[in-house]
Amino acid sequence: MELKSRHLLGLENISPSNIKMFLDTAFSFKKVLQRPIPKVPTLRGKTVVNLFFEPSTRTRFSFELAEKRLSADTINFSTASSSVLKGETLKDTIRNIESMKIDLVVIRHSSPGAALFLTQCVDASVINAGDGTHEHPTQALLDMMTIQERLGKIKGLNVVIVGDIKHSRVCRSNIFGLQAMGAQVGICGPGPLLPRDIEKLGVTVYPSIEEAIAEADVLNILRIQLERQKGGLFPSLREYRNVYGITKERVDQAKKKLLIMHPGPMNRGVEIDSEIADGEHSVILNQVTNGVAVRMAVLYLLSGKNSSKIIKEST
Ligand code: CP
Repeated sequence: MELKSRHLLGLENISPSNIKMFLDTAFSFKKVLQRPIPKVPTLRGKTVVNLFFEPSTRTRFSFELAEKRLSADTINFSTASSSVLKGETLKDTIRNIESMKIDLVVIRHSSPGAALFLTQCVDASVINAGDGTHEHPTQALLDMMTIQERLGKIKGLNVVIVGDIKHSRVCRSNIFGLQAMGAQVGICGPGPLLPRDIEKLGVTVYPSIEEAIAEADVLNILRIQLERQKGGLFPSLREYRNVYGITKERVDQAKKKLLIMHPGPMNRGVEIDSEIADGEHSVILNQVTNGVAVRMAVLYLLSGKNSSKIIKEST
């Protein structure tokens, strides 16, 4: 089986078979990561550049670690230490870096479409590590991997995404990916944080968090983007917690054993209470662990490797 694209820009319109290929490959790499020496020579000789124009902890570290585990050579770029501060454009930045011969580019940028733009400037394969409010495909893949691992399936589950739906690239990628894999997707959040016409994406809109919790198998809780609160999108953080916060009292009302997810970074005591974030239902740190395996799979497959060779090459 082949990937339809040599880039990973998003999960919109991706085929279920391509998602399955990424997930199956990630599960194989997870076994590699559990070995005493969690490293394979698979991408030896390949060069990956990590272009992070926006802050990141989880995504940046897990891409860097994935690249090291695959034995790739890496270059790390961050705005604060680059000539972008002297006014160099994104196009000139990447064309200069590409002149040094690179194979793959990982980009995080605040502008939706920045990853797509890069594909028009370079020959290397481009991986979107989050572009503005557009998509964050590797986050959705690691979320799906975690659901598959914990619940044994994705198809038929009801996954409810809670919070700032409107500004969330994680939400968009999850909606596209989960629906492709046969899950039902629900959303729940304050009206000003829901995109207009969201129903057109085929999601169920839950009017209250209590109704969402009553029907969900999985809750994926989004970060309240505090920087957007300046715009007065909801009355106060206390009000948000009172109406939408994932508290023990609310989770205890669930009829099923809920899986609690959060892409991070969390605002404890706002969208999620510490008792839940650190509690028995939470798989938040498992998501982070799976992020390394997913990013290894994405790097490996986009570099033109065949998934059936992983275990053989790595032994
Ligand atoms: N989930 C996520 O993208 O986290 P970072 O912003 O820390 O990379």
